[in-house]
Amino acid sequence: MSTSRGGERRLAATLAAMTAIAAGAVVAAPGRVAALLEASARALRSRRSRRKPVRVYMDGCFDLAHFGHANALRQAKACGDTLVVGLVPDAEVLRCKGPPVLREAERRAVIASVKWVDEIIENVPYDLTPAFCETLYSKHGVDFIVHGDDPCLLPDGTDAYDAPKRAGRFRMIKRTEGVSTTDIVNRILRAAASDERRENADPAKDAAKDAAKDAARTPPKRSENRFLATTRRIAQFSGGGRAPQPGQRVVYAHGAFDLFNAGHVRLLREAKKMGDFLLVGVHDDDAARAGRGAAYPVLALPERALGVMACRHVDDVIVGAPAEVTRDLIATFDVRAVVAESGASVPEPERRDRARDARARDDAPAHSGGDIIHSRDEDSFREETRARVIQKRDPNEIAKTLGVFREVPPPAADAESGADRLTSSEIVRRVAAARGAYEARNARKNQTEARYYEQKSNRTIELARET
Ligand code: CTP
Repeated sequence: MSTSRGGERRLAATLAAMTAIAAGAVVAAPGRVAALLEASARALRSRRSRRKPVRVYMDGCFDLAHFGHANALRQAKACGDTLVVGLVPDAEVLRCKGPPVLREAERRAVIASVKWVDEIIENVPYDLTPAFCETLYSKHGVDFIVHGDDPCLLPDGTDAYDAPKRAGRFRMIKRTEGVSTTDIVNRILRAAASDERRENADPAKDAAKDAAKDAARTPPKRSENRFLATTRRIAQFSGGGRAPQPGQRVVYAHGAFDLFNAGHVRLLREAKKMGDFLLVGVHDDDAARAGRGAAYPVLALPERALGVMACRHVDDVIVGAPAEVTRDLIATFDVRAVVAESGASVPEPERRDRARDARARDDAPAHSGGDIIHSRDEDSFREETRARVIQKRDPNEIAKTLGVFREVPPPAADAESGADRLTSSEIVRRVAAARGAYEARNARKNQTEARYYEQKSNRTIELARET
C-alpha cells in the first residue's frame, strides 16, 4: 500500500511542479505543455484505478450511535478505501457490556446511514479471535482492523484486539473526547427524571408558572470532559458543505434531531427523495428545549448538528435553525419543499398538552348519560387548554401558506424491522423503564471512563484526511 501511495504522491508532485512550470512556459509552447499535463494526469488516473482498494474493518456496538462513533468511522475510512463495519449483535453486547438501549436493526439503520460506511457485516463477535480475523482477511478481503485508542477489554480482562495486533494488521485511531454511550445514557436518565416531575405536575396549573419553574431548575449537568466543537471538526463532517447546482430542487427538513436515530434517518431519506438537495435545519437549544423541560435537549446543538452532518442523505446543515420556518429562510435558500413527518406540525408543547389533556379526560369521573354537565373546574381547565393551544404556532404555517409544505407519510405498520418508527421520546422511555439496569451498567462504565481520562495522554495522532 505504501509503495503505490508513494508512487502516486510522486506523480502528483510532478504534476504540481509541471503546472507551476507551465504557468511560465505556456506562453512559449502552449500545445506541448498541455499534452504533457494530459499525459501525466492519464498516468495518475490509471495508476489509481489499477491499485487494489485497501479494505479496513471497524467493529463496534454503536449503541445510541453518536458523533464520536461517526468520527471513528470517518478516521477508519481514511485508513483505506473501503470501510467495512462489523455490527456486534444484541446478545454479544449484553454479554460483554450490559443491556443495549437500541436493538440491532435500530443500531444498524444509523450506521448504514453514515456517509463513510461502505459495507456492514452483521453478527460479528465482540472478541476478535484469530479464527474470526482469518475469516475477515480471507472471506471479506480485509487488510486492516481499526479501533479507537481506548482500551477494549473482554469480560476476562484480555485485549479484544490482541490477534490483529500480533498479526500486524491493527491500526489505531484517536477516540473522540467528551462523548460516549455511557455519558448519553447518564444524560437520558436525568432527562427522564425531569419528565417524571413534569408528568406528576397538576394539569390545571397555569402553563406560565410551569414554564418559569422549569426554567429555574438546575440546567442539564454536562460532563466536565464535554465535547468541544471546532471549525475543523465541522469541516471534516460537512466536507465543507455543498451548494445546490443550478436547477436542483432544494428540500428543507428541520427539527431538534436529538439522539439521532433510525426514525430521523427515515425522515431524511424520504425528504431527500422529494428533491435533489437536502438542507437540514437543526434547531437551536432553546427551540429544541421548548415545552420539554430544562434537561432537554439531551445533546447540545454542536453534537446534534454533527450527527446530522454525518448522514449520507444530507447535503448541507443550518446549525441553530429557528423552530418556525420563516419566509426569509425559504427565500434565502430557495427552498422548494419544506418536509416534515406527518403530524409533526403540531408543536411539541401542544403534543404534550394533548397527551396530558387526554389523561385528564380519562381520569375524570364518567358521565351518567343524558345531558353532559361539566363541572366548573373542568370548564376552566378546557378554557386554559384552548388558550394554551391558541398561543402556540404551527412551525410550518408559512410553508403551508406558500404551498410548499410536504408530509412524509408515517412508516408502514409492517415495516420490516420496526426501526423506522423509533423516536427520541421512545429512547428516553426505554432507558427510564429499565433505570436500575442502566444505572448499574453505567456505574461500572463510569469508573472505566474516569480511569481512561486520568491516564489519558495525547499520543495517537488523529487522521488528517478530511473526507
Ligand atoms: N469510539 C470513538 N470515540 C468515542 C466512542 C467510541 O472513537 N467517543 C470508537 C471506539 O473506539 C470504537 C468504535 O467507536 O472503535 C465503536 O465503539 P463501541 O464498540 O460502540 O463502544 P465504545 O468504545 O465503548 O463506545 P461508547 O463508550 O460510546 O459505547
